[in-house]
Amino acid sequence: MRYALISDIHANLPALDAVLRDIRTRDVDAIYHLGDLVGYAPWPNEVVERIASEHIPGVAGNYDSTVATDYKHCGCRYEDAKQEELSHLSYAWTRQHVSPQTKTFLAALPFRIDIRPLGGHTAGPTVTLVHGNHALNTVYVGADRSDDFLAKMGASLGARVGDVVAFGHTHVPWQRIVGGVVFLNTGSVGRPKDRDPRAGYFLLDVGEDGGGSELVRVEYDVEAAASAIADSELPNELADFLRAGGAS
Ligand SMILES: [Fe+2]
Repeated sequence: MRYALISDIHANLPALDAVLRDIRTRDVDAIYHLGDLVGYAPWPNEVVERIASEHIPGVAGNYDSTVATDYKHCGCRYEDAKQEELSHLSYAWTRQHVSPQTKTFLAALPFRIDIRPLGGHTAGPTVTLVHGNHALNTVYVGADRSDDFLAKMGASLGARVGDVVAFGHTHVPWQRIVGGVVFLNTGSVGRPKDRDPRAGYFLLDVGEDGGGSELVRVEYDVEAAASAIADSELPNELADFLRAGGAS
């Protein structure tokens, strides 16, 4: 089975559509999203409508669950005071602009999804999808996390040798095998933070004889997305962030 794992779209419709076009050329059996459908860009309702109409299942990111529950903030990490201010402005804008249908969709997203690529009638392997980590969708699991941290995360999710644990949230793709479990951060479709403004997602292959994974980067009209942000009441800095592939 070949899966496309797409995460952290963050209301960036041009990036999502470019990724979906790319996926259609790659013999993919199923697409899953790993959360954070909304926030930071001006198409939260359109992105949710696209995910719903394409029947793409996925998990709740911190932005999804905080918008859905009218929480006091988005659960985002603030690198500095400026980023904190921008984050508050984006969250307020998003809450003002999401439709009741979008909120209902976000509220229904599960916290984790387990996939059995070879079928539930066999012992494994299992691919587990969460947004952040096993406990919260706000916890950042970056490449600097220790093997010990990842081993505990895998154990908490019930992962065994040969399984895959996939997540997003940091917007920086990476992967590592710890204790025979593949830990895979899928990066971000709509708001990369690794200085590469192209949309990013992962292809994951799992078969009888093992599998593999591949990071895919997709060119899209970054300027169209940045211009739409600039033309909205969202802060202009969010447009520069997209152009630079992260904080400049
Ligand atoms: Fe995110």
